[in-house]
Amino acid sequence: MSEIKNENVDQVLIGKEVFVPFLEEAKIQKRIKELGEQISQDYKDKTPVFIGVLNGSFIFLSDLIKHIKVDCEIDFFKLSSYGDEKISSGKVTMLKELNCDVTGRDIIIIEDIVDSGLSIKFIEDLMDQHKPASMKVCSLLVKPDSLRYNVKIHYIGFDIPSKFVIGYGLDYAQKYRNLTSIYVLRE
Ligand code: IMP
Ligand code: MG
Repeated sequence: MSEIKNENVDQVLIGKEVFVPFLEEAKIQKRIKELGEQISQDYKDKTPVFIGVLNGSFIFLSDLIKHIKVDCEIDFFKLSSYGDEKISSGKVTMLKELNCDVTGRDIIIIEDIVDSGLSIKFIEDLMDQHKPASMKVCSLLVKPDSLRYNVKIHYIGFDIPSKFVIGYGLDYAQKYRNLTSIYVLRE
């Protein structure tokens, strides 16, 4: 059985790679509360549909939603672009479509992290075809220096450097999503 050797304040060892603390749980939660309050304010007369992009966003969305004070709905997409690598394959495929009808709805796309922006661009183009009343994007993390596509991220948890991060929903080859804080690959 493989185990996470040591999630503590110091480091997470994955084979020979060392991940060090980057954003601790309390800081993440504080920022999510602020985002929730902001979104609640902005949508106070509306019933938005939160659309989580699986798998990475599931923890972020579940924490965010607790701070939303307006009626809302939730649905999920599942996309794949990274495979098991640390670098995007540059291709996006749809693995699970939406169940709800977003036509005429106020939708908020929820991402764990925006890197090149390819995934968000793909979703925006797809959603546009269904004519939502409005569409905004909320991402816990954004790597501004990696953006290659013209996408606007309306709600950002944290801008971060273009380094590989894990934890709090973010995976490395599908693992480590369960870490409660976010760790960055030490270079
Ligand atoms: P993009 O399409 O290049 O913007 O990449 C977005 C997707 O790649 C995110 O939803 C993540 O699933 C994944 N991703 C990007 N950067 C990282 C990272 O540092 N750690 C883990 N996953 C990442
Ligand atoms: Mg993702």
